[in-house]
Amino acid sequence: MKEGSHKIDFYGRDFIVTPDVLIPRPETEMMVDAVLNLCGKAYLPGVKPNEPRLPQDCAILDVGTGSGCVATSLALELPETHVMACDISEKALKVARKNALQLGAEVKFVKSDLMNGIKGDFDIVAANLPYVDKDWDWIDEEALAKEPAIALYAEDGGLALIKKLIDQAFERLIPYLILEADPCQHERIIDYASTGDYSLLEMRGFVLVFSRGNLRG
Ligand SMILES: C[S@@+](CC[C@H](N)C(=O)[O-])C[C@H]1O[C@@H](n2cnc3c(N)ncnc32)[C@H](O)[C@@H]1O
Repeated sequence: MKEGSHKIDFYGRDFIVTPDVLIPRPETEMMVDAVLNLCGKAYLPGVKPNEPRLPQDCAILDVGTGSGCVATSLALELPETHVMACDISEKALKVARKNALQLGAEVKFVKSDLMNGIKGDFDIVAANLPYVDKDWDWIDEEALAKEPAIALYAEDGGLALIKKLIDQAFERLIPYLILEADPCQHERIIDYASTGDYSLLEMRGFVLVFSRGNLRG
């Protein structure tokens, strides 16, 4: 393995992590649970799955894929879905492609600034974008210095990229939007998303699941 690389478990599989990507966090696994739930697949042994809201072959886009942990896990857990993933960092995409290949997942990786370079329709957009506000006094800057700044920090109280993605999802009529953020940001995100006709369907730890107005209930 390359210097500075190591493996980390995410959703029961080993992912290569290098200094070019965010180290996958346990709280992000709930994004995978949330997608499985929308697709009617059980994500805990012994728990009855929900009625599916989407067909088995639905299209999913993971924005800000980093190591590819979310996209790869989804492609393996839901093999009939079509999974695309993007990142603004070419170095991160290289790691993501390697992970998907080693784990045998079919994911299309594309370099893109949010959804700007992405063509096609999607049923679900899932994104764990940078959301750390540099002014938070509780962050351990020394620990975070091991990860790329582009994977961590965002302007506007950490919400700049999340807000832009909500705007893009609204313009492109994306039915379901799944976002990770710090719980202290959730209220502001829910308010902003409501201006784009997204209402909160569920909250799972750091993860917020939204549906467009016509999909409520
Ligand atoms: C918080 S990390 C998440 C990585 C991975 N999805 C995970 O959960 O472990 C955010 C990722 O978003 C990418 N990113 C930052 N700005 C972006 C943008 N404008 N468009 C697309 N990706 C972006 C970073 O390169 C980084 O890989």
